[in-house]
Amino acid sequence: MFDVKAIRRDFPMFQNNPELIYFDSAATSFKPQKVIDAVMDYYCNKTVNIHRGDYDLSFNVSNTYEEAREVARKFINAQSSDEIVFTNGASSALNLVAYGYGQKYLTADDVILSSEAEHASNILPWFRVAEVTGAKIEYIPLRPDGSFDIELFKKAMHSGVKVVTLAQVSNVLGYILPMKEIAKIAHSYGAVVVCDGAQSVPHIKTDVQDTDIDFLAFSGHKMCGPSGVGVLYGKYALLDKMDAFMLGGGSNARFDICGNILLKKPPFKFEAGTPCIEGVLGLKAAMEYLMDIGMENVEANDKMLVHYLSSKLLELPNIELYNPHSDCAICTFNVKGVFAQDAATYLNTKHIAVRSGNHCAKILLNVIGASETIRASMYLYNTKEEIDRFVKEVAQIDLDKCVGVFL
Ligand code: ALA
Repeated sequence: MFDVKAIRRDFPMFQNNPELIYFDSAATSFKPQKVIDAVMDYYCNKTVNIHRGDYDLSFNVSNTYEEAREVARKFINAQSSDEIVFTNGASSALNLVAYGYGQKYLTADDVILSSEAEHASNILPWFRVAEVTGAKIEYIPLRPDGSFDIELFKKAMHSGVKVVTLAQVSNVLGYILPMKEIAKIAHSYGAVVVCDGAQSVPHIKTDVQDTDIDFLAFSGHKMCGPSGVGVLYGKYALLDKMDAFMLGGGSNARFDICGNILLKKPPFKFEAGTPCIEGVLGLKAAMEYLMDIGMENVEANDKMLVHYLSSKLLELPNIELYNPHSDCAICTFNVKGVFAQDAATYLNTKHIAVRSGNHCAKILLNVIGASETIRASMYLYNTKEEIDRFVKEVAQIDLDKCVGVFL
């Protein structure tokens, strides 16, 4: 059973900030005690490097690090733990694919197909691929509300498309894309599918074998884990033929004075240098924590929360809600006549944390017709009572109140 009261007790941030309503989990999530303990345990009891030391401590931590890879495999249902590359986060995972696959295999005849809803981390690396290779970027048209339409995607696909790169869940609008259908269509044209899972993996059950996507990037810190750690999943054959972004210790089998380098096989060829060991151990604890609760339960609870908040915001005459059909714990809106950041600053005086601005998705805002918005994003520890308190405060916002904050 999903017991939100028990879940909240797992998160010290709630005990330490009893008044706070935290609606910014799409930026980063709170961490349960188990994750904090895993990180502390590394610092207090086992601070050694991995894969290098000929002593018990190093051997044991190396084993736990590799167990984390297996937990990540299970979390997204990859075929093999060799398909799990630990990175610094979703951004570095996406940059790795763009560099290692895009820059290596794309040419001036090729097209990268994306959408105007992408976060900077899933479009800027592809801009660079386009600059270096001459490949073109094309955008799948979105519906006027910014949502994805599979029919428009079908029309946008053609034989020149070599990479389709999309966020499964928009970090602004929370719409969930049908990745399985997208992958099937993209594969029928011979394109590979890159999925930015930064906002989807923490919130919805992920199965890379079922969706058949080729690459998936996600971050630890948005799914109850530490920051500075993330994952690139890739089908093994693709990882095997990709270039490594970084070279250094740990990723090579041999090198010699003539400059010959023999890299290890994936995933190790992509993990040069000492990794974020404490982050990986913390991420392992986070994934175990979420699996214990059940990702189906997390997903269902998120849906309940977002539908509840959307329905309440739709009742408010002072609010323009941009994503009334969001299914993924994100509500994005404006208070009519009030600059988004001013409204967010006002909410801060009521101990409510939201994000305002363009949310790093600078192209999308042209589509929905608002250059700045307020984003309320929730997670498994949020409650309907918090939503009620939030809506009560939002209902009262007007220009005078916001000006008052700055006086
Ligand atoms: N990508 C994070 C967000 O959407 C930081 O807020």
